Amino acid sequence: MVDINNEILKNNSILQNGFFDIALDPSLDLFKEINKLKKEKNAIILAHYYQNADIQDIADFIGDSLGLAQEAEKTNAAMIVFAGVHFMAETAKILNPTKKVLLPDLKAGCSLSDSAPAPLFKSFKDKYPDHTVITYINCSTEMKALSDIICTSTNAKAIIDSLPKNEKIIFAPDKNLGAYLNKITGRDMILWNGACMVHEIFSLEKITKLKIRHPNAKLIAHPECEAEILALADYIGSTTGLLRFSQQDVSKEFIVATEAGILHQMQKSCPDKIFIPAPPTNSCACNNCPYMKLNTLEKLYICMKYETPEIIIEEKLRIAAKLPIDRMMIISKKMGL
Ligand code: 13P
Ligand code: SF4
Repeated sequence: MVDINNEILKNNSILQNGFFDIALDPSLDLFKEINKLKKEKNAIILAHYYQNADIQDIADFIGDSLGLAQEAEKTNAAMIVFAGVHFMAETAKILNPTKKVLLPDLKAGCSLSDSAPAPLFKSFKDKYPDHTVITYINCSTEMKALSDIICTSTNAKAIIDSLPKNEKIIFAPDKNLGAYLNKITGRDMILWNGACMVHEIFSLEKITKLKIRHPNAKLIAHPECEAEILALADYIGSTTGLLRFSQQDVSKEFIVATEAGILHQMQKSCPDKIFIPAPPTNSCACNNCPYMKLNTLEKLYICMKYETPEIIIEEKLRIAAKLPIDRMMIISKKMGL
């Protein structure tokens, strides 16, 4: 049972982090309290670019999936607090198992990861016994254990290029990223039919109209977007790639086709430039990932204070999933990524 002390019971905002409901005192200075807990517990906060601005601002490291995995692997902190989604926290635990890895909300999943259930993928893979399986890091630990090499959007091309030209490959789970990679590598990989709900929502019609209204704006897109959006893009890259491009390119205006959280770092590093989130097909804020946005400063505080929810992975599965991630890390290092 969690020890809920007086400091917490005073007020009304009920938080659910998958384990317990807590009412937090709204006058609590969460930035100060979280920074205090970081020191007390020798903790590091790793945040993905898709997190809310306040979480990005309190994080020790902000990055894309590859950067976060590399940071998790090398950290000496005793506790890794992962402000991201479940597969990212699992990857941190796989790579650095002696650390306590916490995820503020265990329900922070991923639609792309969910689109590839491991037992179904196993039957699919068994039909192609002579194929190498390259799997995007946005997948479960069980999927990783069924794979030969893991990749992220930063290193996917380098990983495919590292294999002989005649290598037969299955790429999972993202069909949009897979199709884009087939195009730029000249391969004919067999694609699993998965996708990310956030990157599939962008409206070609609305983006086209936006480009007409902003003729000098460059469209920059994440490769998880559909081919028709990528065909219009001036630059395609991972979240880190998109951020770098927006910093280095001479243009003053950008239409950004990825999750809207990345705009915080873009705007922060280039306050004189204009960043427009690419519009989705409907009128809701669907380019906000509902899973990423489950994390809040309040949940971060509670999770650090009570050291829960924690990511636990059975050891045999962890070792099986680590091998394809290690292969990715080695190739990335060799390529300077
Ligand atoms: P990257 O972090 O590799 O850019 O991928 C984006 C993403 O969808 C993470 O969930
Ligand atoms: Fe998954 Fe898409 Fe959310 Fe990334 S943005 S965590 S791929 S659902």
